[in-house]
Amino acid sequence: MKISYGKQTIRSDDIKAVTKSLKKDYITQGSQISKFENDLKKSFNAKYCSVVSSGTAALHLSGKSLGWKKDDIIITSPITFLASANTIEYSGAKTDLVDINKETYCIDPEKLEDKIKKYKLNKRKIKAVIAVDYAGHPCDWKTLRMLANKYNFKLINDNCHALGSYYLNDPYYAVKYADIVTQSFHPVKAITTGEGGAIITNNSLIDDKVRLLKSHGIRKELKSDKMWLNDMSQLGFNYRLTDFQCALGSSQLRKLNSFIMKRNKIAKFYRYSLADIKEIILPKESRGIRHSYHLFPIQIKFSEISITKEIFFKKMFDLGIQLQVHYVPIYHHSYYRKKYKFNKANYQNAETYYNQTCSLPIYPDLKKKDLEYIIKSIKKVIYEKK
Ligand SMILES: Cc1ncc(COP(=O)(O)O)c(C=O)c1O
Repeated sequence: MKISYGKQTIRSDDIKAVTKSLKKDYITQGSQISKFENDLKKSFNAKYCSVVSSGTAALHLSGKSLGWKKDDIIITSPITFLASANTIEYSGAKTDLVDINKETYCIDPEKLEDKIKKYKLNKRKIKAVIAVDYAGHPCDWKTLRMLANKYNFKLINDNCHALGSYYLNDPYYAVKYADIVTQSFHPVKAITTGEGGAIITNNSLIDDKVRLLKSHGIRKELKSDKMWLNDMSQLGFNYRLTDFQCALGSSQLRKLNSFIMKRNKIAKFYRYSLADIKEIILPKESRGIRHSYHLFPIQIKFSEISITKEIFFKKMFDLGIQLQVHYVPIYHHSYYRKKYKFNKANYQNAETYYNQTCSLPIYPDLKKKDLEYIIKSIKKVIYEKK
């Protein structure tokens, strides 16, 4: 038996949708693109949506559309995938990190304000914050929006984990609080297009810029009688998503709610089955949220059991269960360590979390017998050594 921490869910209607799209004349920029963009707009109750080739491309173009440049200061969380921070580096701006809240594992708004005040004392202001709805648990968006208004910075919701989440019982929270929302449709995410991503916003200027930059910075000269004429006004990229990927995206999006319900059912099973192990800390669900459970990260107090994290992972692997760690903190990576010399002491919650966290398998196609086997294996590995 081999069970990984995440996996796509592809049904026969998905395959049908892709096959149909592949039989059309335009397999790159066909009609499915705007269809998927409109479907996403509806899901977010947003004015604009532009699909791109990955979540990383979505973040890159977010920074580009906001005009980040050298010496700007952009802040993100240390507990996120590298792409959230790398996008700051692409623009030449300075990456800074603010510790996580130890219950939600999302960026801590109080510590963020402390950091902003410190910059202010040195007559510097921050340009933007990339807050990550980690694992599918929304950040404290009300406070983040209040801070963005108070200190005049832009807010990006790296929402790559949280398609289908609710905040304050609101399924449309993401675009309501953030200036830009980014999505990834990588196979382990809530829905997939293979690789893929999207930028969702209510700001027409941002959407305009993103559309230009995702296709080489070229615009067709519609006013000219020279039918071939186009103009590259800005240095852009090829970050386009294909028609057949969008056909898959729309087909997957129709099933989003059932996928999230299945993930919640699995989370409930884990909660119930692990509740009696006092060395395990389960992820929190704050009031008013619907957790979309992209991940189910538990913390194991390894100092209170007699095995190390390394041995735990190895033994689970030998039992056919591939756990994962989300994430090695950004400031541990040699690129960031050498460049910024971040002080670990400023990231105590992230450090503790990293030392204890491990993501259990969660995806809609996990069977009851798989879940029972996972629980049995965890108990075996933890208690066997005692
Ligand atoms: C929080 C977060 N941001 C951004 C990305 C990048 O998305 P992609 O893999 O589609 O480039 C990921 C992907 O894992 C992610 O987890």
